[in-house]
Formats: sequence, C-alpha cells, structure tokens
Amino acid sequence: MHIPNATINDLTAEKNSLAFEGNQRRHLLDLDDFSPEDLDLLFDTTHAMREILDREIKKAPTLRGKSVVTVFYEPSTRTRVSFEQAAKILSADVINLSVEASSITKGESLLETIQTLEALKADLVVLRHPHAGAPHLLAQHLQKVSIINAGDGSHAHPTQALSDLYTIRQRLDFSQGIKVVIIGDVAHSRVAKSNMQILSMMGARITLCGPPTLIPLELFQSKYPNQPNNVEIETNLDQALEKADVVMVLRLQHERQQSGLLPSLREYARLYQLNEERLKLAKPNALVLHPGPVNEGIEISPEVTHGTQSMVQQQITNGLAIRMALLYLMLTPYPQANLI
Ligand code: CP
Repeated sequence: MHIPNATINDLTAEKNSLAFEGNQRRHLLDLDDFSPEDLDLLFDTTHAMREILDREIKKAPTLRGKSVVTVFYEPSTRTRVSFEQAAKILSADVINLSVEASSITKGESLLETIQTLEALKADLVVLRHPHAGAPHLLAQHLQKVSIINAGDGSHAHPTQALSDLYTIRQRLDFSQGIKVVIIGDVAHSRVAKSNMQILSMMGARITLCGPPTLIPLELFQSKYPNQPNNVEIETNLDQALEKADVVMVLRLQHERQQSGLLPSLREYARLYQLNEERLKLAKPNALVLHPGPVNEGIEISPEVTHGTQSMVQQQITNGLAIRMALLYLMLTPYPQANLI
C-alpha cells in the first residue's frame, strides 16, 4: 500500500487524550503531546531502568506475557536492537519481522500486515517506515495493538530525541538557559525535527547550522508558528558554535536527498565538519551529540567522535533505558507498581 505523506490533521489525530499521567499512553507517534509531567515520569522511570542495566543479571519479569514486534522497513542498528534488548530485559517476547521475508513482498499492505500482527495477539509494534505519517495512519485503524514510531521518513524520531534530551539533562540544567547547535542536514533529519520539538518545550535556544539547501526556514516557521524566537539559522559554523552548551551533529541523509544539494562531500566537510579546532569555539566542556550512524571524517572528525566531550556512547545506552521505560509505561497498567 502506498502511504502518502500525512497531512497535519493526520499527524494530530491521535493527540490530547493520550498521556502518561492519568490516562495511559497507547501510542507514541510524536512528541508534541508530551507535557513536562510526562517527561518527568518517563525520565524517573528511565533512571530506574538504568539501575537494572547496571546489575550483574540484567533481567526483570515486568513484561512477562507481553509480546513486542519490530517492523523495520528501513535499516537500523541502534533503534531496532535497543527495542529488542529493552523488551527482552523486561521479559517480553520479541519478534523481529523480516520485511524482506514477509508477505509484504507478495503485496500485503502495511495496514494489513499490522492488523495481522494484531490478530496474532501482538501487544505493541515498533515501526520504522520511509513515509512520513505511516505510524499515525496505522494508529487510526488499529483496535488494540500499540504503535511506537521508530522513525517515519523525514518527519519524526521521538525515541531518539527523548534519549538525547535525557543525555543532556544528566549533565546540564535547562533552567540556566541552554544553547543547542544542530549542524547539518536538518531538512531530511527526523532526529532534528523531534529534537527541535522537545528542546523548544524545554526552553532551549536552538541554532541550526548548515548549507541553506539543507535548512528550509519555511518548514520551521510553518511547524513552529508560536515559537520562532528560540530558533535561529546561522550558515557560518564558527559563528554558530559561539557559546554553545550542546553541539548536535547530523549525518547527511543521502537516502532522502535529491542530487544537487551539495557541491561535494569534501566541500561539505571543509565548511561543516565538527573537528577539534572548531569545537574549541563552543563553551568549554560543551557536550557533543550524534544520533548515529556516524560517518567519521565527513560531518564529524574521529577525534571529536571519540573525544572526552562526546556523548555518543551514552546516547546509545540511554536510548536502551528510555525504550525500556516506554515499554514499561505503555504495557503495564497505570498507575504502575514497583518495577520488580
Ligand atoms: N539513530 C538511529 O536511529 O540509528 P539507527 O538507524 O541505527 O536505528
């Protein structure tokens, strides 16, 4: 089934009635219905999950009898494996549907596929899909099964942005005012869009930096009509980095780009690669984040990727704990009892 890019109405159809507090969240499609209270509950729960990860035997019986299916129409390492690992640590049963080996190749639609999983008593489906809005459309047609958006086209990647925010909050206090610089292919990055949403809610100032072809201003003015003041665009990387508390580097999304957006990779690296010299222009000890996969030597130098300011490994481990917390909060009755 061809799923067209969703309209704003499609994307907001499942909003408002879903919250962690008071009402159990059935789907996680986007971050625009998250409240500060939702974040506090999620991050408190994530903190408890991190404690499980530090145990010698990383196992809790919390989700025994629940089944989670991952359905990835695009490649993934971090997101897919962390959801699988998260579900297994919490004792859920996990099935990874291989799209290439499934009846999708015989023409079965996305909706029919997920309805089949629902009939097979899956409790939650983690979906990555190349079309923006695919999880939102599915959520309108499913009776029981929950959906987590693991990335839909260039639109949103909510669990990555939650992992990034959790990682930043471990080190920095948002009430002090934080400047976050997001460098690179903002236009095609679902990670950037979800991060802009949640960082705006936290009151951060955001500077987008990259070639003008990769930062379409109209997109953000139409999506964030009420909060344009916290977002600025600076095409000069040295200037953008001034007084930055957090530097978030993005991969060039070759798979989503039309040709002609960049003169060459060498030119891009010359102007926009985060290297040690440039990082010195940010605040001392500024945090460096990258959602991965990293193309070392293009958008970021190896020295910065593996340097003392790099949060790349912490982002991945925190991503596992965030996904454990989400599965727990979505699949166990509200209000939740103790973890174990
Ligand atoms: N950050 C991220 O989504 O990585 P994967 O594509 O490896 O899941």
